[in-house]
Amino acid sequence: MSFEPRSLPVDAAARAALAAQGLEYRLIDPGDTAAVDAWVDADQRGFHHARPRPEAREFERRVLGERRAHGVYDSTIPEPAVPVATVSSWPAGLSVPGGRSVDGWAVSSVTVAPTHRRRGIARAMMEAELATASKAGAAVAMLTVTEATIYGRYGYAPAAKAATIQVDRRRARWSGPDAPGRVHFVEPAGLADLAPALWRRAVARTPGEIDRWPAIRDRVLGLAEPDSDSSRSLRAIRYDDERGKPQGFATFRVTREPHQPGWVEFDVLAAATDDAERALWRALIEQDFVSGTRGLLRSVDEPLEWLLEDPRAVTVSDVTDHLWIRIVDAIAALGARRYGAAGELVLDIEDPLGHAAGRFTLLVSADGRAVVHAADGAAESAPRRERSRSRSTSAEQVGSRARTAEPRSLKLDVRDLGSIYLGGVRPSVLARAGRITASNAGALDLADRMFAATRAPHLSIWF
Ligand SMILES: CC(C)(COP(=O)(O)OP(=O)(O)OC[C@H]1O[C@@H](n2cnc3c(N)ncnc32)[C@H](O)[C@@H]1OP(=O)(O)O)[C@@H](O)C(=O)NCCC(=O)NCCS
Repeated sequence: MSFEPRSLPVDAAARAALAAQGLEYRLIDPGDTAAVDAWVDADQRGFHHARPRPEAREFERRVLGERRAHGVYDSTIPEPAVPVATVSSWPAGLSVPGGRSVDGWAVSSVTVAPTHRRRGIARAMMEAELATASKAGAAVAMLTVTEATIYGRYGYAPAAKAATIQVDRRRARWSGPDAPGRVHFVEPAGLADLAPALWRRAVARTPGEIDRWPAIRDRVLGLAEPDSDSSRSLRAIRYDDERGKPQGFATFRVTREPHQPGWVEFDVLAAATDDAERALWRALIEQDFVSGTRGLLRSVDEPLEWLLEDPRAVTVSDVTDHLWIRIVDAIAALGARRYGAAGELVLDIEDPLGHAAGRFTLLVSADGRAVVHAADGAAESAPRRERSRSRSTSAEQVGSRARTAEPRSLKLDVRDLGSIYLGGVRPSVLARAGRITASNAGALDLADRMFAATRAPHLSIWF
């Protein structure tokens, strides 16, 4: 989705709802440094973070320059230039099963000052983000959450998990294949040119990962605040294949008390190939003078335990819902991913906010491609009608192969569609939980096979 995030106007409904409370809802001009700095301060305060150091200000300004940031202002408070609520958003691709990407709308920095809580400010901002995402042509909105009880009411649902993976150094004896290439230590800054392209390839391999935005590179490589302790303790490794071509990188720190073995801690392992993934894991766990290695925000189906002589060297903890998504355009979202089985399934989607509501036919051909029709055209907006028309042509091509005699259908809420969309949970599990209703057992079985993904969805960053 090529789109200038600030090209759409402020949402009129949110502006009116907040104005009725004497509050002003407005877009931040990235050229207005004072407004940007005050917005960043409010965002930091909302998450109980320290104020940015002077050298980090420039970085934060750059981040906001890539986004659409809104603030809510109260002219009656002693410091009216500091917003009482913040939200930011930007278009970003979300990787979906089959090595594809869907147009997503990333939402971040949702804060409301404690002095202004529980007055509907978050609701006004969240509904506005969905309306804007829809206008921008996004199929899915997405966010990472501090608490799991906030966003379900807007149609978001957990879609990709993450976990902490700990490896005990004494038991970590490698039994996997030797990589054909080599791992090298490199200065983090030396990865600046390579990182975006390697990330793009790593993200494309993993459903649930989102496109990295330009400024994240500098944060991850310690370039945003190069003199901070945290940047100076950062180490980087790069995997080059047998032809010397870089195929992945990881960054880590060793945290330790004086004269004690430490822990290797990392949250960046970007691998464009399986060889790179294995080699980087190996380099991270085979370090001496450490008690072990701790990987944060790792996948729940890392191959690691299958690469060690003693699988009990690996402990998985803190498994958490990490990526939450909200289907905004059912036709575009369902049409974007590839499916695990051919067939025809009718989806009856309930959506109290309307965006994805309707009855849709999902027709999957033997190669996993889908064609999606709205059963009642009323659910489609004009651009959606155009998109589905173009897909209908290919529907006719695959329809005769995939069509089954008896229509199989699922009735589900938009949140449940979000949870099954990337393959993170089987539809039958949500049926057992009483959330999805199937027309018959065959429908559930088909849905399980269709929505299955070969790789568990995973998101390895906060945003
Ligand atoms: C979470 C937060 C943004 C909510 O803001 P708010 O303006 O008070 O929320 P609203 O008044 O619009 O409430 C909307 C709904 O969310 C509910 N809600 C608000 N905060 C909640 C929380 N922390 N847990 C569960 N429900 C919450 C409200 O009860 C209300 O429910 P209803 O629609 O059923 O009546 C605010 O508490 C906050 O800034 N928290 C700290 C930062 C944070 O955690 N941000 C989330 C980032 S992922």
